[in-house]
Amino acid sequence: MEGYITIHSPATVANLVCGFDILGLCLEQPYDVMYMKLTDEPGVVIRSIGEQELPADPAANTAGAPLLELIEEKKLNNGFEVIIDKKIRPGSGIGSSSASAAGAIAGANHLLSNILLKEDLVRYAMAGEKVAAGVKHADNVAPAIYGGISLIRSIFPLDIISIPCPDLYVTVIHPQIEVKTSDARQILKKQVLLKDAIKQWGNIAGLVTGFMQNNLELISRSLEDVIIEPVRSILIPGFNEIKTSSINAGALGGGISGSGPSIFMLSETKEIAGKVESTASEIYKNLNVECNTYLTKINRQGVKIF
Ligand code: HSE
Repeated sequence: MEGYITIHSPATVANLVCGFDILGLCLEQPYDVMYMKLTDEPGVVIRSIGEQELPADPAANTAGAPLLELIEEKKLNNGFEVIIDKKIRPGSGIGSSSASAAGAIAGANHLLSNILLKEDLVRYAMAGEKVAAGVKHADNVAPAIYGGISLIRSIFPLDIISIPCPDLYVTVIHPQIEVKTSDARQILKKQVLLKDAIKQWGNIAGLVTGFMQNNLELISRSLEDVIIEPVRSILIPGFNEIKTSSINAGALGGGISGSGPSIFMLSETKEIAGKVESTASEIYKNLNVECNTYLTKINRQGVKIF
């Protein structure tokens, strides 16, 4: 693509089981491929190539909305043309909307000679999440931009902490059904019991400490969600069976990726991650549910620009 920069914008796993809206992890695979260039007039042109047809109206497109906000806030005299080859299926639960938003804003920043801080990139990218989910959340866009594991302590004001973590393998199992994030948020209970909240706080603190101390057993026993999973897992066929078979195969643990329907599992070795992948595929085959799988690793760089 002569005259365009190329962007690889990664899939991400939000929530990391117990950290609803506050934890996220960046994946090596899959990623969207995007091409971008500056245009002479302020405004955004979106084109999609590949299998997925995306909204061409920039205000309704998760890549377009952050760019429109950037042009307006910074009073830019230029605009952007964005070509998106969407490899991450919308509604898959591995940060499809976030990949477009994070890729577009990181690409724009590159074209503008890096005028923005990473935190600003996350702030603009959240405008894309608003288009997709109806609310701003940063647990996909932050890890997509920072790489590795992000803790989003707060979004207003933004407070993002990168968490060091062991070199784990990630198995993603994506049953071919679509769950809209906005729908998966609607069904959640608005109130939680104090005893559940206490359990969840303990698990979040344990998980973060486990990542920072390379303590795999602590990671494993902290991968528990008593608030969101019991509600959302009902939307995912075979969820409990896959979770049990993955743990039996030696996975550290896992659960719903973002708002689902994808399931993710963390493993210490590639062999275990492969076993998790094959047993889950077998379960979906028996249930007559088509599924896609990825056996990948934690991406420590985030969005890549060439
Ligand atoms: N934290 C968000 C949710 C992530 O679970 O609704 C959506 O990908």
